[in-house]
Amino acid sequence: IMSMGDYRVADISLADFGRKEIQLAEVEMPGLMACREEYGADALKGARIAGSLHMTIQTAVLIETLKAMGGDIRWCSCNIFSTQDHAAAAVARDESAAVFAWKGESLEEYWECTMNAITWPTDDGKGDGPDLIVDDGGDMTLLVHEGYKAEELYAKDGTLPDPASTDNAEFKIVLALIARELPKTPQKWHKVAARMYGVSEETTTGVHRLYLMEKNKTLLFPAINVNDSVTKSKFDNLYGCKHSLPDGIMRATDVMLAGKRVVICGFGDVGKGCAQAMKAAGSIVYVTEVDPICALQASMEGFRVVRLSSVIADIDIVITTTGNKGIIMAEDMAKMKNNAIVGNIGHFDNEIDMDGVMKVAKRENIKPQVDRFVFPDGHGVIVLAEGRLLNLGCATGHPSFVMSASFTNQTLAQLELWKERTSGKYATGKVYVLPKVLDEKVARLHLASLGVELTELSTEQAEYIGILDSCECLRLGVIISF
Ligand code: NAI
Repeated sequence: IMSMGDYRVADISLADFGRKEIQLAEVEMPGLMACREEYGADALKGARIAGSLHMTIQTAVLIETLKAMGGDIRWCSCNIFSTQDHAAAAVARDESAAVFAWKGESLEEYWECTMNAITWPTDDGKGDGPDLIVDDGGDMTLLVHEGYKAEELYAKDGTLPDPASTDNAEFKIVLALIARELPKTPQKWHKVAARMYGVSEETTTGVHRLYLMEKNKTLLFPAINVNDSVTKSKFDNLYGCKHSLPDGIMRATDVMLAGKRVVICGFGDVGKGCAQAMKAAGSIVYVTEVDPICALQASMEGFRVVRLSSVIADIDIVITTTGNKGIIMAEDMAKMKNNAIVGNIGHFDNEIDMDGVMKVAKRENIKPQVDRFVFPDGHGVIVLAEGRLLNLGCATGHPSFVMSASFTNQTLAQLELWKERTSGKYATGKVYVLPKVLDEKVARLHLASLGVELTELSTEQAEYIGILDSCECLRLGVIISF
């Protein structure tokens, strides 16, 4: 791991390769490139932006878009396996951001990287934190909130957070990190919260965390839910996973997908893309669901909707996409066929009972991010990316074009939070989504490169369907007098 300047990456000599791939990606990311053009070099001037989002080639184009608009950026990945080291190297060498990310971090290193990304080397009087956060899964936001809580207790009676107070191995690491820094900087997180103008959150799981904090009235700044822009969740989660699930399985195992029995757990946006991809590959696809509507949708798409327990002994591949925990347990894996494949594409690894399988089976490493867990009777299952999201752990995540739509939403959210930072438009403790006009704008920016010819509504038609006086008329160029 190299850390010569204000960065920590695996190998800075990969920067040339990273730069070439970033240049290829730029052509496939028309939304981001259009933002650079439209909003110009001053739109984020003076804004300190801290990001916690998979440090890939596509993310490098996002970072450089925010930088091109004047942002001062620090970055880490939001998963220990998802960094593309050449992307991190190019961003570090060319000083697009201070970056702390490499593929294969330990959990301790992961949280150190998050700490580095959120801490500016200079305190400009307003504290050493960011003005804005770009989050994916909510880990950076969580660190701020846990730090803030710990400072309140410490101020009251000098109590430091106790890692032994939790059974969760990762949370122990977070508490230990906060406890270590607390006596040195007892106001750090209060200053961070006071300075922050808001967070924009990328994914379903992170958005769930934000709504929970909004409900409990603990959210310390405004938030924009980027996931629920139509041009994010109905594209990235769906078409992105449709592309990157088979990519991950094939790069990891080279297994023949046609004819195999595959279970997709969860039929939300991600599950729908995954099930379609496996069907297209010629697999026999089963779906599990808890939601009757999604179960009915799966059934009417021609998938067999089953309980995992009914099919577990006969299947070749099982993939979790639920964003929920405890979906495949060690007992389930013990019943599977020899060399059946187990993977997760949801945000966190707790969909698969990794602790359980580590206890009852012997781990045999095949190659990075591919392990065979051998049970006492000699049969084994192949677990991808240690139960972490396999499309980024075993492959390179979603392709640039679909990430352009997601990251254009991120960019618009960041611009909006910065532009409105003193207007009071976005209130502390509240979660917002971007307006439909911006969602439509994101889609619009991606039409030309696919050769789409969009039909224009006539004024009469707009009137007939009753949208003339809505904000959508803006795009028609129709002037309404109020
Ligand atoms: P979603 O909420 O649309 O879908 C989740 C589905 O799982 C729901 O239909 C729900 O009813 C179902 N479910 C919940 N508990 C279940 C259980 N015990 N058994 C079976 N089904 C169950 O969420 P979405 O957008 O599909 O995201 C799913 C996860 O994937 C999240 O963690 C999200 O953050 C992550 N994600 C990962 C991406 C990647 O590139 N790896 C991309 C986008 C999202």
